[in-house]
Amino acid sequence: MENQNILCDIAEGVATVTVNRPASLNALNSQVLGELECTLYKLEQDNAVRVVILTGAGEKAFVAGADIKEMAEMTSFEGHRFALQGQRVMLFIEKMSKPVIAAVNGYALGGGLELALACDVIYASDNAKLGFPEVTLGIIPGFGGTQNLSRLIGPNRAKELVLSGRMINAQKALAWGVVNEVVAQAELAAKALDLAREIAKNGSLGVGYAKNAIVNGLNMTKEDGFRYESSLFGVLFATEDQKEGMGAFVEKRKAQFQGK
Ligand code: HXC
Repeated sequence: MENQNILCDIAEGVATVTVNRPASLNALNSQVLGELECTLYKLEQDNAVRVVILTGAGEKAFVAGADIKEMAEMTSFEGHRFALQGQRVMLFIEKMSKPVIAAVNGYALGGGLELALACDVIYASDNAKLGFPEVTLGIIPGFGGTQNLSRLIGPNRAKELVLSGRMINAQKALAWGVVNEVVAQAELAAKALDLAREIAKNGSLGVGYAKNAIVNGLNMTKEDGFRYESSLFGVLFATEDQKEGMGAFVEKRKAQFQGK
């Protein structure tokens, strides 16, 4: 079935995925989440895609949260199922071998901030506002936000945001380490594309393993993480990309990676 709310544009190894529901500030309902999951699943399988950029349509919002109008009617069972559906999407982004860059072009609230936090890098526009307003609605973040934010910026700052429901601006998000960089809104797409293209030039197996080592290593003891890293390091010596990368250095030419 054709996507109604997710746009996907692929050029030169970079897929730009746009949550396109601007009349609702790109709020995530179960249909949008389903379309997003299918889109990301296809991109993970597509050898022509090296990097994904995730953004929101319009100039006002990245994603203003999960869809409150849909959630308002949910039973406890449906709420639980909805949280699990969203968490599946967030975990899929973390497990993807391809880096996902969030280009946060405005409000990133609730489920929208959770979506950005699942990504590998977050660039924000200078008008962005971030927060977890869930407690103002009588709920809590449910797409992994309590876990991902506290791991990223520590429990005290995470609690300040999650327990108050307040929003912070892009500069404060930068100072707190929630986002990697803040740029003028007009430059956000180009900035994300620059990084995506730089990553796309590298050996995709190495890039995927490096992401994997960091993401999975965070759930291990340091010693297990070291062991995991050295195993992945060793596996890469069985790839053509390693031979090409090092051969190109020795021969003083640019590497042409094939992703195998
Ligand atoms: C459904 C939403 C929405 C949302 C905005 N809209 N956010 N619809 N769900 N999360 C809709 C509005 O109802 C309105 O549609 C249109 O988008 C424009 O929004 P306005 O409120 O008119 O814009 P503005 O006055 O500029 O205010 C912007 C805003 C505000 C501050 C971002 O929209 C807002 O507070 N939105 C809710 C943010 C929020 O609480 N997010 C967390 C949701 S809970 P109509 O048709 O009415 O004009 C969550 C849980 C995740 O994310 C975990 C789930 C398991």
